[in-house]
Amino acid sequence: PVGRPHDGIAAPRAILGATRANSAGMDLADEDRLEALAATLRAGVSGVGDAPRPVLNPADRRDIVGTVRDATPDAVQAAIAAAEAAASGWEATPAATRAAMLERAAELMEARMPALLGPIVREAGKSLPNAIAEVREAVDFLRYYAAESRGLAGRALGPVACIAPWNFPLAIFTGQVAAALAAGNTVLAKPAEEVPLIGGTAVSVLHEAGVPRDVLHLVLGDGTVGAALVADPRVQGVMFTGSTEVARLINRELATRLGRDGLPVPLVAETGGQNALVVDSSAQPEQVVADVLASAFDSAGQRCSALRLLCVQEEVAETVIAMLKGAMAELRIGQPDRLDTDVGPVISAEAKAGLLAHVEAMREAGHAVHALPLPPDCDHGHFVAPTLIEIDGVSALTREVFGPVLHVLRFRRDDMDALIRDIAATGYALTFGVHSRIDETIDRLVEAAPAGNIYVNRSIIGAVVGVQPFGGHGLSGTGPKAGGPLYLRRLMRSTPEARGA
Ligand code: NAD
Ligand code: ALA
Repeated sequence: PVGRPHDGIAAPRAILGATRANSAGMDLADEDRLEALAATLRAGVSGVGDAPRPVLNPADRRDIVGTVRDATPDAVQAAIAAAEAAASGWEATPAATRAAMLERAAELMEARMPALLGPIVREAGKSLPNAIAEVREAVDFLRYYAAESRGLAGRALGPVACIAPWNFPLAIFTGQVAAALAAGNTVLAKPAEEVPLIGGTAVSVLHEAGVPRDVLHLVLGDGTVGAALVADPRVQGVMFTGSTEVARLINRELATRLGRDGLPVPLVAETGGQNALVVDSSAQPEQVVADVLASAFDSAGQRCSALRLLCVQEEVAETVIAMLKGAMAELRIGQPDRLDTDVGPVISAEAKAGLLAHVEAMREAGHAVHALPLPPDCDHGHFVAPTLIEIDGVSALTREVFGPVLHVLRFRRDDMDALIRDIAATGYALTFGVHSRIDETIDRLVEAAPAGNIYVNRSIIGAVVGVQPFGGHGLSGTGPKAGGPLYLRRLMRSTPEARGA
């Protein structure tokens, strides 16, 4: 499966903080374990009492995963008031005590990995390897920020709003919350409206690990709830991961007020990308094809890091594109609870409609479109076939296309610098890849690449916490990078100690 390099098999043994290793995941080569997992993937997820909003499985709309009750305006106000009242007590709690709670939460999540996978597969439509990677990354974030916070001096901000996307429903949500808590802030945690059950599970684990209930509040709802948190003068910082459009709205709102220290309210925004991979004629075609498949179609292309634009030097373009189409035909599209599924659903009917409209517009504009057929078990879900579209200039990409749609561009070697300038001109700068066996080309592209994370002769997805801090600049985000050493400082007041001065 395309997810293979990112599942539990090849666990990187990285250094987290001083002494810890990354979460090891699980060995999917163990057939007994796989059979046991297959049963748990369909397990139910409990709702909240008489909660009125059903959460539907994106792979099969007939499947109600659970039910939730979104926060009313009064409940949002009450949560902010409680988070404010608890702020000084949490800030005064020794950093080591807070860190120990996060480490306990990491232990609980790691121990419960099998039980967490089913909800991730059913609520977010993730494949099994992707779901394992989610839990591992969440565990890594908890341990990494706990370790980082131990040596950090400085004052906390106060109540912080954590507003998360649906595409990493456990990892990014847990990472935001863990960082804010580790830095001594109380937290209003809003998962994306598509994945409230996973968000709720993460918050329950943190409470169970000892984080007091008045310190960490689960606030469910859509963008109006997020906007209410951002607009409240008691909220002293915002951590946002999601679309560039919403980040701009939040930035605009925060610009209208100052925090209680008289300084701008900090915003950490991690947003979209227009990610490119440049392949020259020296690259190894088999490796290119494997890495392109993973980069473009893993998670049905619903990663901010995913490959949107493959640029192939014209001498090898025909071969690479033909091989790519052949390899695409081998992808298994379908229900994510099947163990052999490579590409699951997109998140919603709106997402599917937007992607299909883009493909149709490109076809009408005269671009060659190659789309895979969808198998029958996709009939009741939001599936979009992996699609390859040939374009003749970067300017054909006018917005982030968030799904399994890959654009391919042929370039002349003499035009490589102009190509990089065009990619930079999109304004996004998140991930970038180069496939080449010429050192001079690699060095030149790495130097010029408009991206926060640059990968050489490998896929461009799957950054590992503590090893490859992740994030971009320009339209792709404010920094600092998640899972890196500067992150917690942005969640503390701008004192000389916090700046490390
Ligand atoms: P989104 O912007 O639609 O929603 C993200 C969150 O913001 C949700 O919780 C939503 O309810 C909330 N929200 C919506 N409107 C709001 C408002 N006006 N004020 C406050 N909050 C509001 O994004 P999405 O569709 O959930 O996620 C996909 C996007 O996220 C893609 O663009 C992807 O590239 C990006 N993303 C970036 C990273 C990264 O690290 N750079 C990681 C994952 C996803
Ligand atoms: N951190 C995620 C990746 O690198 C978004 O794919």
